[in-house]
Amino acid sequence: MSSQKSKKSTKQKSDKASEAKDKLETNKIYKGNCIETMRSLPKKSVDMIFADPPYNLQLQGDLHRPDNSKVDAVNDEWDQFESFKAYDKFTKEWLTEARELLTDDGGIWVIGSYHNIFRIGAIMQDMGFWILNDVIWRKSNPMPNFRGRRFTNAHETMIWASKSQKSKYCFNYDAMKAMNDDKQMRSDWEIPICSGHERLKGADGNKVHPTQKPESLLYRVILSSTRKGDVVLDPFFGTGTTGCVAKQLGRQYVGLEQEDDYIKAATERLDATQVIEDPDVLDVKSKRDQKRIPFGWLLEHGYLKPGTVLTDHKNKFSAKVGVDGTILSSSGKEDLRGSIHKVGAALQDAPSCNGWTYWHYKENGRRYPIDALRQKLRTQVEAADQQ
Ligand SMILES: C[S@@+](CC[C@H](N)C(=O)[O-])C[C@H]1O[C@@H](n2cnc3c(N)ncnc32)[C@H](O)[C@@H]1O
Repeated sequence: MSSQKSKKSTKQKSDKASEAKDKLETNKIYKGNCIETMRSLPKKSVDMIFADPPYNLQLQGDLHRPDNSKVDAVNDEWDQFESFKAYDKFTKEWLTEARELLTDDGGIWVIGSYHNIFRIGAIMQDMGFWILNDVIWRKSNPMPNFRGRRFTNAHETMIWASKSQKSKYCFNYDAMKAMNDDKQMRSDWEIPICSGHERLKGADGNKVHPTQKPESLLYRVILSSTRKGDVVLDPFFGTGTTGCVAKQLGRQYVGLEQEDDYIKAATERLDATQVIEDPDVLDVKSKRDQKRIPFGWLLEHGYLKPGTVLTDHKNKFSAKVGVDGTILSSSGKEDLRGSIHKVGAALQDAPSCNGWTYWHYKENGRRYPIDALRQKLRTQVEAADQQ
């Protein structure tokens, strides 16, 4: 396909996606069975789905603490299925409809425990979802194992997948790294279970919902994999945790839930949720979205002069800057000429090299990576672009 044709088809794709989004009513809770509701919504209108489906816990009898008090377990009707076969059928049905709603580049998160997550994972793979990570939510304050017959069950698993292997899914890598003190965010997240003032309680003092998720978990999920303004759908909305965090973070939400009591609790919670209004605060910076600055531009804009000698930070290798933005080095085994990246890699006998951080220039007796010049030029160019 010619590049013009492929550009046209990408544009047609994104026009269709935005038309579908315009047809979807967002920031609303749809009451009813999520499978039927999803069938009625416009296809390819949702950027991300977070699903916290029934666990199919199959609890037999009540569970008591050592002091004989009854454990508030998940024994609601919505969590009951006759058999694994019935659970699998339900899972396939809701995932089929969910997949139809996702844009081609959309992503999905499904959270579960050992009771259901392996079945869900296999079904997702069979359907063509492309698993990107399984993120472990390690509970810092899990419920003890009262019977003492097994290990304390201290985590849940979240499958993060794109709609297909080809999807250009959203991942805010730099935002996640920034959140984690400039270290790559790992796939094991230690977060406490929902408790204290965040846990919704009824007039009788009992929990409104047995499996209300912590907002901190959704904060990381939504921030990592959506952009400002994106549509986030939760087919098992419960108390609306996904909607509240989406609203705070300037995303649109769509909640599906069948139980009136949960819808009431979620509506009140959403009404009380404040949106972060300041666009500067809400913006997530990604290096990938930054304007590309080729090395040659440093010469054109006078940030480096042809003939400048660059060195690595240990001053072991050196190279001269050519007028065309290549660099020339005779300090290795052979004479080299090429891009900052290629020459850097060849000198170190490495498969690749980030020339921006490898090569340094000297100013006032000190050495600085040429990346500092790139950053200065980028600021200048971006300011000019905005005028
Ligand atoms: C595990 S809970 C989700 C809790 C939610 N993440 C929260 O933080 O409050 C599952 C929810 O899905 C709802 N549900 C179960 N089956 C459903 C269905 N077929 N359609 C719509 N909602 C359903 C249940 O009423 C329950 O609130």
